[in-house]
Amino acid sequence: MIYPIVAYGDPVLRKVAQDIDKEGTTDIKKLVDDMFETMHAANGIGLAAPQIGMNLRLFVIDGSETEDEEIKNFKQVFINAQILNEEGDKWAFEEGCLSIPSIREDVMRPSKLRIRYYDADWNLHEEEYSGMMARVIQHEYDHIQGVLFIDYLSGLRKRLLKGKLNNISKGDVKVDYRMKFPIKK
Ligand code: NI
Repeated sequence: MIYPIVAYGDPVLRKVAQDIDKEGTTDIKKLVDDMFETMHAANGIGLAAPQIGMNLRLFVIDGSETEDEEIKNFKQVFINAQILNEEGDKWAFEEGCLSIPSIREDVMRPSKLRIRYYDADWNLHEEEYSGMMARVIQHEYDHIQGVLFIDYLSGLRKRLLKGKLNNISKGDVKVDYRMKFPIKK
């Protein structure tokens, strides 16, 4: 099932997401399948549960559709993730987000991280990532912390983008996948 992707301005994108209870009622396998399907339909390489309106600590990554050597074999489900440590020189990369279409901006992030998470079979992992893999994880992890990439921009950049962001919230943006906009016109 393809979900509409929640657009900038929806409060769900600003919440710290809740851990998923392994014994709870959420059908994780189905939700993970739906998230990959939704992400692929929008040509994304990462998607977090808040972006489909669910306040859960879950994100998926699949770089297989890209030409990027570092991430084209990177496909992973991250449940109840916690970044334990970030280190290394900060580097700039131009990021975009399915919830903030038409805006791309350089973001500075540390080059390495250590993360603990469960996969879709509830196996616990603790791993280190660097480079582009770390970059994609950091962006998606931010989503389950209620943080968006535009938060890292300078005050000036944010002011310049304000009108565009308001338009996105209202649905005044050209986008080729289904979205849910928080402000009704
Ligand atoms: Ni995003």
